[in-house]
Amino acid sequence: MTDTRTGLAGAAESSSAAPVAAFDPAVIRADFPLISTPREKRLIYLDSAATSQKPLAVLDAMDRYYRNYNANIHRGVYRIAEEATAAYEDARRRFAKFVNAASPREVIFTRNSTEAINLVAYAWGRWQLKAGDAIVLTPMEHHSNLVPWHILAAERGIELRFIPLTGDGQLDVTALPGLMADGKVKLVSFVHVSNVLGTVNPAAEITRVAKEHGATVLVDASQSAAHMKLDVRAIGADFVACTAHKMLGPTGIGMLWGRRELLEAMPPFLGGGEMIREVHLTSSKWNELPWKFEAGTMAIAEAVGLGAAIAYLEKLGMDAVFAHDRDLSAYALERMTEIPGLRVLGPAADKRGGVVAFTLENVHPHDVATVLDSDGICVRAGHHCAMPLHDQLGIPASARASFHCYSLREEVDALVESLHRARKIFAR
Ligand code: ALA
Repeated sequence: MTDTRTGLAGAAESSSAAPVAAFDPAVIRADFPLISTPREKRLIYLDSAATSQKPLAVLDAMDRYYRNYNANIHRGVYRIAEEATAAYEDARRRFAKFVNAASPREVIFTRNSTEAINLVAYAWGRWQLKAGDAIVLTPMEHHSNLVPWHILAAERGIELRFIPLTGDGQLDVTALPGLMADGKVKLVSFVHVSNVLGTVNPAAEITRVAKEHGATVLVDASQSAAHMKLDVRAIGADFVACTAHKMLGPTGIGMLWGRRELLEAMPPFLGGGEMIREVHLTSSKWNELPWKFEAGTMAIAEAVGLGAAIAYLEKLGMDAVFAHDRDLSAYALERMTEIPGLRVLGPAADKRGGVVAFTLENVHPHDVATVLDSDGICVRAGHHCAMPLHDQLGIPASARASFHCYSLREEVDALVESLHRARKIFAR
């Protein structure tokens, strides 16, 4: 069964491969050299929302590519070039299956989510949007889903509207029909899981309302694809953007899923080699999907790493990953109530993923992070590329702990202990 509000698949259909063993983060950690190799000073990595750690399977797959069959793709007819092409396209097929795309042709490789969103803003947005149109966004967007629209809005005279937040950091979706009532909204673009509040937004419900009002829909799945079963067809959007480096994969490769008929009709984004079928001195014709949107030499080793990361996540089972993240968030929320002056941002644990951002009274988040670092704990501090959200919350910055499949309850305990220490150090 698929939850029609969130687009999350239920247990029965969730995993494309059965989990090999009971989900045990203590065992899983052994696959991640950076966090499992003993070091002089302990290292507790609680910044997986910024980038996840990488399992050996990913490191080895990329190493094998460079050592054994490094060659450019789609060009050579010799054996290792064919092997490289097959591995690159296999990663695309794997990702398409992972997110339940109708076809691998609907999957475009980019550099990251930011580039995937910019691809939509440039290729679809400049093709479809004109002065007087409106775009609906939310105040909890990462800058990557704000700035491309700021640029387009200024260029074209487009109005930006925002779904308001509730007091506990969810989206007030009941406001959406009102925002769209005048028929001017052509695009609704929103984040699936907030990188600050942790809120899991009802992607399928927002998409349904947006579609009823005739808008195209883009979902930023940067923080969800890595942590839960993402079913692009169940959500029903037109575009979904994500990035490999938060999914246990390498940096340098992102994915845009798009509805085939839209991608077919859109003009290209970047021009150059590979994205063409024919080039003449004064004109050119585009390649077919997905290569029409993949100009120049792509991130081949990174695609190989992504393929290995997806295989690893499939073995874990995405329901198990999500349940684990949520369990850790719930535990962190519960333990953090012990710390006087600590304010957690965002909703209750049953409405969020594995992200817990917070402030500590009278202590700047950078000071919090520095004390934690001195205890070997890595958290992010600052505005987390979400300045407008922090403005709305009335704070300049926050500290953030975030989890993945390898995170442990003991690490939350260590975080809480270190936060007590930070509070004492800065007590007035
Ligand atoms: N978007 C990433 C984060 O939230 C980098 O930390």
